[in-house]
Amino acid sequence: MGHMDVKAEVKLSRLSALLRRSLWLDMLTEAEVMGQVWQDPDFDPALLVTHERDEELAGAIFGVIRREKDATGGTERRVGYVKFIAVDPRYQRQGIGTGLLARLEERLAEKGVEEIRVSGSAPCYLWPGVDVRYTGAYCFFLARGYTRYSDAVNMRVDLATAPLDTVADEKHLAEKGIVVRRMEEGDREAVGTWIARTFGENWRWETLATLNRQPVAAFIALQPDSPPGEEVIGFAAYAGNRRNWFGPMGTDPRARKLGVGRTLLRLCLRDLREMGYTDAQIAWTGPVAFYARTVEARMDRVFYLLRRSLH
Ligand SMILES: CC(C)(COP(=O)(O)OP(=O)(O)OC[C@H]1O[C@@H](n2cnc3c(N)ncnc32)[C@H](O)[C@@H]1OP(=O)(O)O)[C@@H](O)C(=O)NCCC(=O)NCCS
Repeated sequence: MGHMDVKAEVKLSRLSALLRRSLWLDMLTEAEVMGQVWQDPDFDPALLVTHERDEELAGAIFGVIRREKDATGGTERRVGYVKFIAVDPRYQRQGIGTGLLARLEERLAEKGVEEIRVSGSAPCYLWPGVDVRYTGAYCFFLARGYTRYSDAVNMRVDLATAPLDTVADEKHLAEKGIVVRRMEEGDREAVGTWIARTFGENWRWETLATLNRQPVAAFIALQPDSPPGEEVIGFAAYAGNRRNWFGPMGTDPRARKLGVGRTLLRLCLRDLREMGYTDAQIAWTGPVAFYARTVEARMDRVFYLLRRSLH
């Protein structure tokens, strides 16, 4: 992070330290905090509110506004998200959190937001919602008028014991003319266009973000003999948001049931194992049975998605 000025570096390190003190389940790195705050595509400094006590950072809240289409796909509306709130354990239950939330809500309302969510601010998000083990936070939001509207789970993969071999699958896919390899910078356009068309803009953003990782944290499947523009048939990515979190992934409907997704998933998890991680989180899991079957994943972190209308 050599390009940052000293003031920004101090800000980042103080904020990261606060988040590690209060978000004990997560131990966020400075790179993750940087990615989630200053590199959020909708970063607005007015939505980062801090509370100082004796020249120490005692609390912070950070929000973003996303433009989202309503269910009919017609009008766009502005939805506010609380990406995180954290008060140093030494200063909790003294009203600091309440003050921070009130200021963020006020600023979001001034900017035309009608609903605030404490849930996954896709595409750039820290969690799908409030981890139920952050029980104090759940109680805090309930007491402040938020209600639970959905839930989500992460699954955990034990990288020491999960079956991650891909030799037989890759041979089988090669016989069908399917190539599996790591994504490269030159794939940006083709892969991005296909993901946006097949799975939506959010997954495009999250997957292309992995082009900045070293090595690129995504694998793709290609069928080179397809008509132009239809060569990409599958992708899987990790670390777009959180360092050992897997996802998103998707296989084109016309190439399902061939082992494409299983292979791409295992290649990603093998990267994480080689980097020294002992476990991986399957983020915001959709098809639980798929991950349970292919990599012996178990349901792990549980999140409640909360919201409050500002009307
Ligand atoms: C959630 C959090 C920010 C609240 O900050 P705070 O400064 O302690 O909040 P306030 O003092 O303004 O409000 C406290 C109120 O919240 C609720 N609350 C907070 N902690 C609670 C706990 N452990 N159990 C039950 N209720 C709790 C209560 O309603 C409490 O009011 P009370 O003290 O009169 O009972 C703080 O607990 C925290 O940093 N938690 C860890 C970080 C986290 O989990 N963030 C959520 C992920 S986004």
